[in-house]
Amino acid sequence: MKVLGIETSCDETSAAVIDDDRVLSSIISSQEIHSRFGGVVPELASRAHVRLITPIVRKALQSSGIDYKKLDGIAVTCGPGLVGALLVGVNFVKGLSRALNIPFIGVNHLEGHIYGNLLSQKNYQFPILFLIVSGGHTMLILMKDHLNYQVLGQTRDDAVGEAFDKGAKMLGLGYPGGPEIDRRAKNGDPDFYKFPRAWLKGQNFDFSYSGLKTALLVYLEQNPPSAISKHIDDICASYQAAAVEVLIKKTMNAAKHFGIKYVGVAGGVAANSLLREQLTEECGKQGIIMLLPEPIYCTDNAAMIARAGLEYLNSGITSGQNLNAYPNLKIKSAKKS
Ligand code: KG4
Ligand code: ZN
Repeated sequence: MKVLGIETSCDETSAAVIDDDRVLSSIISSQEIHSRFGGVVPELASRAHVRLITPIVRKALQSSGIDYKKLDGIAVTCGPGLVGALLVGVNFVKGLSRALNIPFIGVNHLEGHIYGNLLSQKNYQFPILFLIVSGGHTMLILMKDHLNYQVLGQTRDDAVGEAFDKGAKMLGLGYPGGPEIDRRAKNGDPDFYKFPRAWLKGQNFDFSYSGLKTALLVYLEQNPPSAISKHIDDICASYQAAAVEVLIKKTMNAAKHFGIKYVGVAGGVAANSLLREQLTEECGKQGIIMLLPEPIYCTDNAAMIARAGLEYLNSGITSGQNLNAYPNLKIKSAKKS
């Protein structure tokens, strides 16, 4: 089945064509305009999507070598995300599906991240424990089968990607901050400063990242700028170590609790080198198979949306012209176990 995927939930305008599990093309345009504001400006994102969507879709079709008449269906992110940004993709796809007379499906962005991971895998079996870590989400999900999810825990405040981005902003590093902290941390000492780890009371799989961010703010206020500027790499390494340790421990606890054999990580923060290294190491020690996504399928892309959409379209599930954009869409099972 040949599926065109479209992703416009935040600041990436992306289109991709897949043929079952094969990615024929994947075009991602990251909107540079936000970097000067140190974060995504929703109105600017929507306007950029409007400008970019037609040329990006055209480019994805051209480089796939597939004529649009050969497409079997279209998948589009319908939430969660920025409402104006989502509406650009959703409305574009509604029109295109009418014009081509092919079905389309609205896909949850988080489900897309999960399928972005599975795009990189040859062998896996359900159930899979997924750690989803992005700019907007930090979640542990038990995937029992295709399109079947149980949320085990999630952040009660900030997402881990947000902690990376806001931390980087406080340190005067660029946006998005995650890759920059990752890069600087490689030359730093993770034991330079002990940032707090939020374990939360009792045996639960929820997260909290607002305290880590505040701890960095307090540290920066209490130390002279000359001392701080000498130790940026060490601060990055210490901050990253605190953020990652909680992710690893909670994931491994959940894996043990549910007797899991396969663990996957998905979302933009899944590109983090310390997280990848330590999760692989911990899973190895427990005899768990680690499913790592290729870095290109960690951050937002439309190939992951196309792959998730394919699963729906193959099951005969489609959306209608009443599909809307849902900024707070929750991940739901389309299939029961
Ligand atoms: O999945 P994504 O592209 O967008 C959302 O759905 O939010 O994730 C973006 C997030 C940003 O917070 C960015 O800083 C973070 O992923 N990120 C990283 C790395 N690469 C991207 N965080 C830590 N280390 C990285 N290497
Ligand atoms: Zn994302």
